[in-house]
Amino acid sequence: MSKKKIILTGDRPTGRLHLGHLVGSLQNRVKLQNEGNYDEMYVMIADAQALTDNADNPEKIRENIIEVALDYLSVGIDPKKVTLFIQSQISALTELTFYYSNLVTVSRLQRNPTVKNEIKMRNFEANIPVGFFTYPISQAADITAFKANIVPVGEDQLPMIEQTREIVRSFNRIYGDTLIEPEAVLPTTKAAFRLPGVDGNAKMSKSLGNGIYLADTEEEVKKKIMSMYTDPNHIHIEDPGKTENNTVFTYLEVFATPKDFENFLPEYKNLEELKSHYEKGGLGDITIKKFLLNVMERILKPIREKRFFYENRIEEVYEILKEGSKKAERKANETLNEVKSAMKVNYFEDKELMKQHINKYKK
Ligand code: TRP
Repeated sequence: MSKKKIILTGDRPTGRLHLGHLVGSLQNRVKLQNEGNYDEMYVMIADAQALTDNADNPEKIRENIIEVALDYLSVGIDPKKVTLFIQSQISALTELTFYYSNLVTVSRLQRNPTVKNEIKMRNFEANIPVGFFTYPISQAADITAFKANIVPVGEDQLPMIEQTREIVRSFNRIYGDTLIEPEAVLPTTKAAFRLPGVDGNAKMSKSLGNGIYLADTEEEVKKKIMSMYTDPNHIHIEDPGKTENNTVFTYLEVFATPKDFENFLPEYKNLEELKSHYEKGGLGDITIKKFLLNVMERILKPIREKRFFYENRIEEVYEILKEGSKKAERKANETLNEVKSAMKVNYFEDKELMKQHINKYKK
């Protein structure tokens, strides 16, 4: 079997990407892409998966495909290095899903922690669509179709990778060595950190309206940072303030570098100094928020400019997605053919089969 290094990952196009995505996955992908230590790298817009719980809102998915594509390009995903494609355009993926379904039990899916949790959160209970319930199987198809052995994802996706590995093992045991077992690669250090929303809520999400988006204008970013949750008891500048669970400090922890202090706040050498002043009292929220705004703009401005570049070249973006999808389709079809051969549903390719049947009925 090949020892190639193949990376695959993706996102559901249910909304624009925000700072949480940037630190949780996008920066890591761009780093992997630029290190170049791989044979093939794929980034997929998982629209078919997004439809499993948005069947009544295809318009939302359709609109967000271009948004997510623009977000990818704006952070530096390079279509010359990475195959960028749209899941629904690769029909081999649905076919693989159908065959893999035979290898997975209902109770196994019910035990998948991600599915279990989402069912609970969405109050789906018995009303859960079959397509949503079985999306781990479709995700196994996404990964195995490209023979990906490295899947960079967030922690929440680990159960999906585990389920994929089980499907691969079952398939290979029953039909012979065909599929590759993938490994999840989690983001390291700072990036592993889940960025809270600007309101201090642990999760940055569209429904809570507490996210800073890659496509936000400088004005929008400023407004969000200036209203950011800090320490509610830090009322006067001279009051001592808490830096723990203080969103401004949480963000600075993730994003501010020593160089940022040098450039934007040279009165302090580093975050430790800034923190101890805030805790002692005498440092106002406006100062730390202005500093954070400078840091975020250092990061977001180039992203915004790159996005603007592609916003003016939508035809080119469509071409990138179309070409990527074509390339992905070729690869997935290859795997599908191997899968069908292994399962012996390749009746017309297997010349021996007809000969056997001729012999069987020879009079
Ligand atoms: N489930 C992933 C998410 O919600 C998206 C996804 C679909 C994916 N197929 C994948 C991620 C394959 C990695 C590999 O973010």
